[in-house]
Amino acid sequence: MRFSSTLRASLALSSFVAFADSYWIFGGTQPLVTTRLDPVVDPNGVGGHVHVIAGGSNFGPTYDYDTQIQSKCSTITVQKDLSNYWAPQLYYHDQTSGELTAMPTSFNIYYLPRAGPANESIMAFPAGLRMLAGNTTEHTVDYNASSFADQAISYMCLDYNNDHTGDPDWAERPDFFDHTCPDGLRAQIFFPSCWDGVNLDSADHKSHMAYPIQNYNSGDCPDSHPVHLVSLFYEMFVSVDQFPYNGAGTWVYANGDTTGRGLHGDFINGWADISLLQDAIDNCGDANGQVSACPPLQAVVDQNAASACEYTGLIVNEEVGLNGPISVLPGCNPLWDGTGAQPACPNTDATPGFINAAGPLPTGWNDVGCIAEGTNGRALTGASTTSPNMTRALCAEFCDSKGFSIAGAEFSDECYCDNTFQNGASNTTVTWSECSNKCAGNSLQDCGGPLRLSIMFNPTPGHASIVSQTPIVPSGAPATSAPVASVSGASMVVSSAAAAPTASNVAAPAPQVPSGWSAAGCVSDNGARTLNGFSLATDTMTPGICVSTCASKGFSMAGIEYGRECYCGDSFVNGGGSSLAASTCSMACSGDSSSTCGGSWALSLYKESGSISAALPNSASSSASSVAVPSSVPAPSSVAVPSAPAASSVAISSVPAASPTSALLVAVPSPSAVPSSVPASVPSSVAAPAASSTATASNSTIDLPAGWSAAGCVSDTLQRTLNHDAFTGTTMTVASCVSWCDSRGWSMAGLEYSRECYCGDSFVNGGGDPLPDSACDMTCPTDGNSCGGPLALNVYTKAGASQAARRSLKARHFGRRHGSGNFF
Ligand SMILES: *[C@@H]1O[C@H](CO)[C@@H](O)[C@H](O)[C@H]1NC(C)=O
Ligand SMILES: *[C@@H]1O[C@H](CO)[C@@H](O)[C@H](O)[C@H]1NC(C)=O
Ligand SMILES: *[C@@H]1O[C@H](CO)[C@@H](O)[C@H](O)[C@H]1NC(C)=O
Ligand SMILES: *[C@@H]1O[C@H](CO)[C@@H](O)[C@H](O)[C@H]1NC(C)=O
Ligand SMILES: *[C@@H]1O[C@H](CO)[C@@H](O)[C@H](O)[C@H]1NC(C)=O
Ligand SMILES: *[C@@H]1O[C@H](CO)[C@@H](O)[C@H](O)[C@H]1NC(C)=O
Repeated sequence: MRFSSTLRASLALSSFVAFADSYWIFGGTQPLVTTRLDPVVDPNGVGGHVHVIAGGSNFGPTYDYDTQIQSKCSTITVQKDLSNYWAPQLYYHDQTSGELTAMPTSFNIYYLPRAGPANESIMAFPAGLRMLAGNTTEHTVDYNASSFADQAISYMCLDYNNDHTGDPDWAERPDFFDHTCPDGLRAQIFFPSCWDGVNLDSADHKSHMAYPIQNYNSGDCPDSHPVHLVSLFYEMFVSVDQFPYNGAGTWVYANGDTTGRGLHGDFINGWADISLLQDAIDNCGDANGQVSACPPLQAVVDQNAASACEYTGLIVNEEVGLNGPISVLPGCNPLWDGTGAQPACPNTDATPGFINAAGPLPTGWNDVGCIAEGTNGRALTGASTTSPNMTRALCAEFCDSKGFSIAGAEFSDECYCDNTFQNGASNTTVTWSECSNKCAGNSLQDCGGPLRLSIMFNPTPGHASIVSQTPIVPSGAPATSAPVASVSGASMVVSSAAAAPTASNVAAPAPQVPSGWSAAGCVSDNGARTLNGFSLATDTMTPGICVSTCASKGFSMAGIEYGRECYCGDSFVNGGGSSLAASTCSMACSGDSSSTCGGSWALSLYKESGSISAALPNSASSSASSVAVPSSVPAPSSVAVPSAPAASSVAISSVPAASPTSALLVAVPSPSAVPSSVPASVPSSVAAPAASSTATASNSTIDLPAGWSAAGCVSDTLQRTLNHDAFTGTTMTVASCVSWCDSRGWSMAGLEYSRECYCGDSFVNGGGDPLPDSACDMTCPTDGNSCGGPLALNVYTKAGASQAARRSLKARHFGRRHGSGNFF
């Protein structure tokens, strides 16, 4: 990231101890799996409580460094770091019903080379090192303000509006807050950095490590632990803001702790190349912790591989509260605030066994890999279905039941079948990580991607049955006496972030930007920066400032992130640019709170119109089946872009008790930040014409906004013939689609494939040809009306003034095809 000269100057002033400020963050790291495993504290068996685990795919009940470094992938973007990082899962406790729901979690993982006054050499983690920070049995009453181990556990209540600055009740503290946190809770764990130089582990998993002499987060190492390792610091982001706060006891860790003091973190080293880690420690200096500023690490960044990293190992065969509320925490974990006697175990179930996280395919079926959709239509056209419970096994079973030998899962919840590859598609696999959409019915498994299919094959279909897994009894654990649960019961993890076509998905009104530029959706960014031509950060940021800046520098794309950061470029680089849910870009602009300026690792994108077609492949036109908002892919839930001035707080021993990073701004985007009522930008007083007799889908009961009427079934194309706004939703209705397009000022709305909605003012990209009604034969999921078909749109149009707009837009598109400059 490059900063303006003003920011650079302020950085130089404050970060006078340059070497001490060098560090990096694996920001926005997503969990690999959430299950009751802990290979450090409870090796080989079922763990004491549920953990949320990030990192290398070879995680499991047993840690072995040589196996660990064979992991296929990591949820850390730097794919050579195959370590695992974990902490107890935090639950929302509904104190009326008693039910517990696992809250969405992600991590920022900091690597901080922190030499003390003696300037000891900072060393990489030795092969096989494992360690623990924090104490699972501790409670508030035991907090010792002079203990570094206790200081190492702390909390921040995230409030980006800064409505509570200076209020001690909102200051960083060692236990849970007694109120909600509008932008999420940040739980912080600082690991000891001094190693005894001999033992890779110890009986309590702590004694082989020690905190430095001067401070928990910096200083010189004691003689007993003379080897100064790189400091490890976790920020765990939990979306507490998505749940109501109902008093003390609302938040509870998987270990039953309702105070927050029982937070702890575990680490197992999985750096495949220890010398790479040492190289980074020695040579990477960035005051903002950006991996992109560290060439040896940047060289092995692969965001796609991190997103697509699939945990294929064992999980404990039990619900952990991600798939819906649970009544009791798994294991013996009574809810307890540390006062009075500890309650008895609430859970009398026998210890369950292990099952495979991914679940088996039906008999006869095998995974082939990831392929591209057809170039001029769908690759598999024999049969198709969608399901909120989609898994690869479910898709294979569906195709098998129809007698097809090829099954392809796409875009989380879609399934296609055929016996041969159609429309220019072939059995040639593309990079596995392009199929990175998690299955709607199992977030541990991949189900294709935009325009990408996870292919399965069975030469003799028609006989398959779903294989249910027999749990494996862990060695050293009591045998299960519980009934064998189906694999889906244990591994089915449904995202809570489904994008329903509610008004809350509607973005704020388009802000003013220079002419010739227009908004192009919300797209992903990453630590390497996907628009890297120029950048600027300011507290007075508006879309206008960013777009003007990029335009003045000669760039054709501008992206605004994190409220105050502006990035320019001509194309997406470094693996970003994927379409994100509009709600991911929901942070208010620092210079204009009525406008939206991106989110965490999420760019509000603007394009100069001459190059719109280059910008949209990742957004409006990227998926064959659609779409802007894959309902099963949660928005990246966290993630840091430390703003520049904050780096100054990372000074080496300056403020002993404070977290070294407490001033860093880090985000958990709030999905509900978007205004829920958006006035229609086109007055709806235009008289409603008589319903068109050509309508295929105009059930007389549909309640359309004034002026709208059905206009029949027409063809769509993969490039999208209504290409301005789109959303998908499992509760799609004709009325919700038309109202949504109407509220955004469009004069045409189209429903496709049962749950997709597209808006525009004219047919573009070659579609719009009339089709027989039978082509629009899919029903909407909830109201039974017709909601289009495969590449077939049920179109509704708005009469009146928009006709003129439509004509002029058509003319401009015609002009664009002839390449004559700026049209929008
Ligand atoms: C600390 O030691 C490193 C070598 O390990 C050296 O490059 C650096 O200049 C030293 N810094 C100070 C402040 O002594
Ligand atoms: C963990 O906390 C418990 C309860 O306060 C305490 O008895 C125990 O000594 C602590 N363990 C360590 C290793 O500090
Ligand atoms: C608090 O921690 C300090 C430093 O580790 C230690 O010396 C002291 O004994 C502890 N106090 C209690 C009450 O445990
Ligand atoms: C998905 O699975 C849930 C839980 O098993 C079930 O209640 C629901 O009916 C399923 N939905 C579909 C569309 O199959
Ligand atoms: C696709 O290729 C895989 C090997 O990559 C092969 O096993 C499979 O039979 C092929 N399927 C078809 C339908 O050609
Ligand atoms: C709506 O119309 C379609 C055919 O266009 C029909 O199949 C469907 O049953 C109708 N739904 C209702 C609720 O009338």
